Amino acid sequence: MNDILFSTGAIGPLKLRNRIIRAAAFEGMCPGGVPSPSLVKYHRSVAAGGVGMTSVAYVAVVDGGRTFRHQAWMDPRLVPDFRKVTDAVHREGAAVSVQLGHAGNMSDRKVSGERAVAPSGRFNLFGLALPRRMGEAEIERMVEAHGRAVSTAREAGFDAVEIHAGHGYLISQFLSPHTNRRKDRYGGSLENRARFMREVLRAVKKAAGNSMAVVVKTNLEDGFRGGMTADEGVEVARILEAEGADALVLSGGFVSITPFFMMRGTTPHRELIRAQKSPLIKLGMMAFSRIMVKEYPWQEGFFLDGAKRVRAAVKLPLVYLGGIVRKSKIDEALGAGFDFVAMARNLVAEPDFVEKIRRDPSHVSPCLACGPCNSCVAVMYDGECRCTWWERQGKPKA
Ligand SMILES: Cc1cc2nc3c(=O)[nH]c(=O)nc-3n(C[C@H](O)[C@H](O)[C@H](O)COP(=O)(O)O)c2cc1C
Repeated sequence: MNDILFSTGAIGPLKLRNRIIRAAAFEGMCPGGVPSPSLVKYHRSVAAGGVGMTSVAYVAVVDGGRTFRHQAWMDPRLVPDFRKVTDAVHREGAAVSVQLGHAGNMSDRKVSGERAVAPSGRFNLFGLALPRRMGEAEIERMVEAHGRAVSTAREAGFDAVEIHAGHGYLISQFLSPHTNRRKDRYGGSLENRARFMREVLRAVKKAAGNSMAVVVKTNLEDGFRGGMTADEGVEVARILEAEGADALVLSGGFVSITPFFMMRGTTPHRELIRAQKSPLIKLGMMAFSRIMVKEYPWQEGFFLDGAKRVRAAVKLPLVYLGGIVRKSKIDEALGAGFDFVAMARNLVAEPDFVEKIRRDPSHVSPCLACGPCNSCVAVMYDGECRCTWWERQGKPKA
C-alpha cells in the first residue's frame, strides 16, 4: 500500500511504523496512583490494533499536580509498573509516549493533601479551588520537577514524552492571560507568559537526551474571550519550534472554562453529574452545568482550519488531532502537510480502528453515529476507557 498513512515517520530520534498516534486520553486506570494491569491491557490492545504510537495520558510530574485519585505521578518507585506498559506496547511493535504535566489550579487537594498552585491566586470555579500563587523559587523547582519526571519516564522505557502545555493546565495557565495576572517576568507579554514553558522545555530536552522524542501538546486557542488567542497560539508554536521541540500536537480549550471545546459534540451532563465524587461539586453541577458548560457542534476534522495556520508558520513535525472518524480525513490531513494524525475517541470505541481501515478503507468509526455522545468522558471518572454507547448497540466491549 502506498499510503502516507502506512509509511514510517520520524519524531526527533524516534521512528514510528506509521502515521497514527493514539492521543493522550485519560484512562483512569491507576487506582491509588499505581498503573494497573488494565492500563497494560488497554495500551497493548491499542498497539496490537495497529497504531504507530500510543500515549499514556495525564501523568503528573509531582504528587501535588494530580486531579484524580486514580491518576499516577511519575514517581521513581513506579518505574517497574510503567515498565510493564512500555514492554507490552513494544512487544506489539508500537512506540509509547507518556503525557506529563501539572494540573495547576485543577489539582485536587484531597488527592495529594497539597493546596493547588497556579500562576496567580485566581478562584477556579470549576474545581472550587483558590490556588496559591507560585513564587519564583517554586517555579524553578517546578521546572526541575519536569526534568526529573522525564528522566524517570526514560528509565521506564518510554520512547517519547508529551509535555502538556494546553487545555488550561499549569503551563497553559501561565500562557493564558485569564489565569496569569502576574506583573513579574512570568506575566504580561506573551514573551513573559511563555517563559515558564520555555524553561520547562529546556529542562525536558536536557533530561530526554538524544534517544527520546520530546512532543508538546499545545493550544491553537483557549476558546473564550480573555484567553489565549489563535494568533498567540501560532506564536507559541513558533516559540516551541525555536526551543527544539521534536513535534507538536495541536489542540485547544481550557478545562475550567471551555472543557468541550477540545472534543465537541454532546455534553453528557447527566453522566458527568452521576460520576462526580465530591457532593459539593455534584450539587454545583446540578445547578449550573447546563448554563456554564458550553456545547460545541462537532464536525469532522474540527481543528483542521486552525491547525493549518500553524502548519503555514512552522516547519517542525505537526500532529493533527480532532474529529477523525474515517481514513479519507486522515489522508486529507496528511496531504495538507501534517506529519501524523492522533485520535482519541475512535480508539476508545475501537482500539483496532487502524487495522480496520487498513483492511477496509471505507470503514467509519462508531463515533460518527454516537454524535459523539462523549459518554467516554464520564466513564473515565470510574476508571474505565470504553464507549458505552457502542456497547449499548450490542457491540463487544473493547
Ligand atoms: C475520555 C477522554 C479523556 C481525555 N483525556 C485527556 C487527557 O488526559 N489529556 C489530554 O491532553 N487530552 C485528553 N482528552 C482529549 C483528547 O486527547 C483529544 O484532544 C479530543 O478527544 C479530540 O480528539 P478526538 O476527536 O480524536 O477524540 C481526552 C478525551 C477523552 C474523550
